[in-house]
Amino acid sequence: MTDQLEKKIELEISSFEKDLEAVKDLQELEKLKTRYIGKKSFLIKTLKNIGTLPDDIKPIAGKKSNSARNRIESGILQKEKYFKGIQYENKLKEEHIDLSLPGRMVRQGRKNIISQITEEIEEIFIGMGFEIAEGPEVETDYYNFEALNTPADHPARSLHDTFFISENTLLRTHTSPVQIRYMESHIPPLMIISSGKAYRKDYDVSHTPMFTQIEGLVIDKGINFGNLKWTLEILAHEVFGKERKVRFRPHYFPFTEPSVEVDVSCHICSGKGCRVCSGSGWLEILGSGMVDPNLYKYAGYDPEEVSGFAFGMGIERVCMLKYGIEDLRLFFENDLRFIEQF
Ligand code: DAH
Repeated sequence: MTDQLEKKIELEISSFEKDLEAVKDLQELEKLKTRYIGKKSFLIKTLKNIGTLPDDIKPIAGKKSNSARNRIESGILQKEKYFKGIQYENKLKEEHIDLSLPGRMVRQGRKNIISQITEEIEEIFIGMGFEIAEGPEVETDYYNFEALNTPADHPARSLHDTFFISENTLLRTHTSPVQIRYMESHIPPLMIISSGKAYRKDYDVSHTPMFTQIEGLVIDKGINFGNLKWTLEILAHEVFGKERKVRFRPHYFPFTEPSVEVDVSCHICSGKGCRVCSGSGWLEILGSGMVDPNLYKYAGYDPEEVSGFAFGMGIERVCMLKYGIEDLRLFFENDLRFIEQF
């Protein structure tokens, strides 16, 4: 009886080993497991029935079938590990990232040259203790002209080619109205710098309907023309280089008295005269002057007490002179070939 059982168990094992060899994947292995050690398998049924066997056979039968079950279980486990290993390798292969592929270039944006120069100039003045002031682009006639000593019948108005929104509202033609707005709400001493867009009805190589200006204003007791000269010489040298000569030329602005225009020596011909400087050897960079005492009445200041100077310059013009750009319109056309040069 024991012999018979032992033989059957041995046969079961050798049949299992043969079948195990032939298993091709995890699914087949699962079927094999059910067949040999599942609930209805010969081995498990035998183990269940051990209790019914005669006492002298029980221990040997138990030992044999248990070791057979262990053998089968470990065989299955080993195979399972093997198949899972293959599965993992395949997954790794599928998900493999080839790091040797060249990357894709991402185009990077950067600050427009107008903003760069504006910030550069602002930094120069912040370094001297100036504060930043702001004003609206849609202005009233009062701040843009009237309070800047330019009444309705003033001939200087015709130079401005104004965009009117209504009779008394317009797009500011310069950043100078910020001077009046700031004076109204502050008392001297004051040192401000204000940049922003200005608008005029004009369009050619040296004019665009929108452009950028930067404005400065200093008011305190005892401010004189010497302070103006010193400040603007520093500005010209910082922006254009220390080797450039600076010249102050008498001019006229309604809101300053006396008024000047400031020139730097032409870098192309070093002052000899060329096409860029129209033969003069000088390039005009800004307008300036001592604040006309008339303006103080709009702010409630006493002209006997305080004095000051102001200046205004076009940023695009500064860029054109600094980089030798001949057409102002290039700044606003967004041609990458132009923009990327800075
Ligand atoms: N606002 C003038 C313009 O647009 C420039 C200017 C000249 C501003 C003299 C000033 C100044 O503050 O004092 O042409």
